[in-house]
Amino acid sequence: MPSRPSALGYLVVSASNLDDWRAFGPGQLGLQRVDKSASTLAFRMDDRKQRLLVHADGGSTISAYGWEVESAAALDVLAAQVEAAGVKVERGSRALADERHVRDLVVLHDPGGNRIELFCEPAIASDPFAPGRNIAGFRTGALGLGHVVVQSADINPMIAFYRDVLGFGISDFYDKPFTACFFHLNPRHHSFALIENAKSQVHHLMMEYYAFDDMGHGWDIAQAEERVAVTMGRHAGDDMTSFYTWTPSGFMVESGWGGKCIDPETWVPGDRSAGPSIWGHDRHWMPPEKRKQARDMVLRNGHNGLRRPVQVIEGNFNLMPGICPWWDGTRPKD
Ligand SMILES: [Fe+2]
Repeated sequence: MPSRPSALGYLVVSASNLDDWRAFGPGQLGLQRVDKSASTLAFRMDDRKQRLLVHADGGSTISAYGWEVESAAALDVLAAQVEAAGVKVERGSRALADERHVRDLVVLHDPGGNRIELFCEPAIASDPFAPGRNIAGFRTGALGLGHVVVQSADINPMIAFYRDVLGFGISDFYDKPFTACFFHLNPRHHSFALIENAKSQVHHLMMEYYAFDDMGHGWDIAQAEERVAVTMGRHAGDDMTSFYTWTPSGFMVESGWGGKCIDPETWVPGDRSAGPSIWGHDRHWMPPEKRKQARDMVLRNGHNGLRRPVQVIEGNFNLMPGICPWWDGTRPKD
């Protein structure tokens, strides 16, 4: 099996206006703002010194994808694997490593021209995470910062690159209402995905809240501030309940809760016939005929009674005491 990164570690964002990000990062998402310079802003979401780095360079995309590797030795192995596949790899400078708050990194590009930074040993902050709004925190750690989804006009060479050169494992795929392929690196169902679309740039990134209600409070903020890009819904792949907002850089952030974990050792990739979502997720970014197709798919899922258990983690649930008397009364007695 090829060597691969362990998680999505950080993202570098291009922006034209840092003031918009200063409001959006903490106020909508709950990130902790770390001011760096007149043209650079960083955000924390856990014990790491930074997870998101925003440069006011006039752009509107993700300009670098930071994929974490377990150790310096593992970084060398992965870099050699990429070079052996004929892909140019450059060692990052000390100044770049310092800016990213990592010990070491290498830089390469995928077939779509997206800049990839493979890195090891991220810096841990000495002070605790202080969220920008009142949230219990994000589900990160070994699962990484979340997931990121990239668009490409032709996803086949991209799939081959991420699977064969970087060693990403395929989780699942579908082709309606758009073509998409999902990849895992750790128990998070997907840390990365590709969507076929003429607009070759980032589609969205996903951050997962620890508490269901923190995601819900974000939904209220998104509606109040009119930045909803995709309405509330539940994905059929990772069982994530989520909604999407537009960032100041023109791509989307998915705010999620309750993502499924898989066993990467035994996972078998499959065709996700239910489509992207069990229910909900009206995608404002899609043309009307595609929105209609997606609506028909979730209505069909409902007609078919598609339902999944809620994915909860320790400290996030209480079992109902006993059995609901009303529900109990509707059940046939043994
Ligand atoms: Fe997503």
